[in-house]
Amino acid sequence: MYAVKDINLWKDGEKKIQWAKQHMPVLGLIRERFKEEKPFKGITIGMALHLEAKTAVLAETLMEGGAKIAITGCNPLSTQDDVAAACAKKGMHVYAWRGETVEEYYENLNKVLDHKPDIVIDDGCDLIFLLHTKRTELLDNIMGGCEETTTGIIRLKAMEREGALKFPVMDVNDAYTKHLFDNRYGTGQSALDGILRSTNLLIAGKTVVVAGYGWCGRGVAMRAKGLGAEVVITEVNPIRALEARMDGFRVMKMEKAAEIGDIFITTTGCKDVIRKEHILKMKDGAILSNAGHFDNEINKKELSEMAKSIKEVRKCITEYDLGDKKIYLLGEGRLVNLACADGHPCEVMDMSFANQALSAEYILKNHEKLEPRVYRIPYEQDLMIASLKLNAMGIEIDELTEEQKRYLEDWKEGT
Ligand code: ADE
Repeated sequence: MYAVKDINLWKDGEKKIQWAKQHMPVLGLIRERFKEEKPFKGITIGMALHLEAKTAVLAETLMEGGAKIAITGCNPLSTQDDVAAACAKKGMHVYAWRGETVEEYYENLNKVLDHKPDIVIDDGCDLIFLLHTKRTELLDNIMGGCEETTTGIIRLKAMEREGALKFPVMDVNDAYTKHLFDNRYGTGQSALDGILRSTNLLIAGKTVVVAGYGWCGRGVAMRAKGLGAEVVITEVNPIRALEARMDGFRVMKMEKAAEIGDIFITTTGCKDVIRKEHILKMKDGAILSNAGHFDNEINKKELSEMAKSIKEVRKCITEYDLGDKKIYLLGEGRLVNLACADGHPCEVMDMSFANQALSAEYILKNHEKLEPRVYRIPYEQDLMIASLKLNAMGIEIDELTEEQKRYLEDWKEGT
């Protein structure tokens, strides 16, 4: 069963999937093992992830491991219709198309759940949240879930604290081989990629304001600086603000940054980071974009209410004419890297999705002993993924000698 924009698009989607697969060697090794062992035979996996080529490689890996796959997107603007068509052609149950309304988005999440999954794989926690609110009749069937975003994990930990969480969830986001690379280098490169593709403007010589200095903000700031921007950071956490300053960036309140920024990129995971009081202070032509999971970091309602007219001036660019100035919003304020580009690079998603695949297998093998909690990924899994990645990159590293190991373990030994 599937509901996609146009199944005839599958050939283009398949080309993208093949290209991604060639650049995801760690997931490739897992796929080979899954093909042999078929650990997911008889298991249904429900997935809500950005449905583009790398995600298709993950879904295929699980399918080759024996799973039945029911999949939808996790954002109305991030599905690539050709990739969705190719997934349907492979026999997955796909319910997704680019430009879904909010109602259609939720209908599609529900259609995935109608397949009564044993395991759910989420990006942003919408599937898990739906299971705990409107689809509680399905909870008994669930072995557990995996979640890969900072935003999703914040939601899950709040559920855990209140005793509301009903099954174990693997915190893929906090794996080192996920957030150090995906959040930092992935978002860093792909957010700038989305801005460059949609605007075709020069970054050098511009003032780029990055809201938030978590792993995503650090990556975005680093890449904007590399392209020649003057980078300004806004933060609410004093430690991160200090770190940003000592990394060489200017740090100030958004109300000040609003006056000088040419391009704004939100990466906070919080709402209303850019709102009316800031927009009022912005320069004519300021460009707003968001790299956080939800489209609430820039207050679009206030921006619309302030506008005398709103029109699309280029693919992915909406112009808000406020009378005395024009403000431009990229990708409707949704994740700029996926709404205006192809998401994170393949090599980065290789590690994130290796973590997702192994975490799904961990749930399968251990769910009976796990409690309804948020679990960290086993450190051994992180080490293994990092070693495989280094190996695929042709990089060898040193090993401790026996004497060095003894030295590190013996607290009595002096220098
Ligand atoms: N591609 C697939 N999932 C993604 C994610 N969470 N972020 C960026 N690109 C992606």
